[in-house]
Amino acid sequence: MGSNPTILLFDSGLGGLTVLREVVRVRPEAHYLYVADDAFFPYGHHSEEEIIGRVVPLVGELISEHRPDLVVIACNTASTLVMSYLRESYCVPFVGTVPAIKPACAASKTKRVSVLGTKGTVQREYTRGLIRDFAQGCEVTLVGSAKLAGLAETALSGGAVSDEDILAELMACFVGNGKDASNRTDTVVLACTHYPLLLDRLNKLAPWPVDWIDPAPAIARRVTSLLPEARGRPDDADAKMIFTSGRPHRLEAALAPFFGGRPLSELRAPLQHPPSRTSENHGR
Ligand code: DGL
Repeated sequence: MGSNPTILLFDSGLGGLTVLREVVRVRPEAHYLYVADDAFFPYGHHSEEEIIGRVVPLVGELISEHRPDLVVIACNTASTLVMSYLRESYCVPFVGTVPAIKPACAASKTKRVSVLGTKGTVQREYTRGLIRDFAQGCEVTLVGSAKLAGLAETALSGGAVSDEDILAELMACFVGNGKDASNRTDTVVLACTHYPLLLDRLNKLAPWPVDWIDPAPAIARRVTSLLPEARGRPDDADAKMIFTSGRPHRLEAALAPFFGGRPLSELRAPLQHPPSRTSENHGR
């Protein structure tokens, strides 16, 4: 590892930028490569076999091409499935992103917690296991959203997103008596990295105030604990982005703040060997 480590962050789209932003805050000297697998977005609409078959070889290809010192899977829909396959297959430290059920349940005073994620994430056995192990007496409501990640992408890209569309995805999180603050949901886990992109809208539209739990700062702490102490200079660090579709997005101005404001270069070259969509090829 040189004095500036290279950190690769991977998501189905732009949601992982909410994790990147926190990682850049704690490790400003690192080189960043952000990969948005937009050719396969949204992951929430794919089966478990399709996601494993897609992500494991694709991350392997990115590792051989870019030699990162650490990889962050900045996607709950993927992390709740692929982390063990990745760790078995490749010798790079990995950090995943999974629903922050434990801290949410520990913090809830009303003992009513909702988990807002993609339909895939809320159905996962992994997520159900977190509830079994860490609910700590809370009533946990799982809310699977089919559209919120797409709405977040539209909003970040400058498109119009109506309050009604957001609210329709959100309402099921609010459980209990709206007029009795001691007897209603007080904590919502943002179990998809796209959702913090809409945090201002979520706050505005919520029928009553709740704590939104975004795991990004905890992920950033984990990343920094796995890297040697920072020695390089932030000025020498670069910021690169790949969209797997190879389509030009021209979002540099909107995305640069997530990279700490440093100039962002888009690597246009699509991957040489697009991985298959089947599970036979996931490299175990
Ligand atoms: N950002 C991803 C997550 O954290 C999911 C969005 C998608 O459906 O692709 O789950």
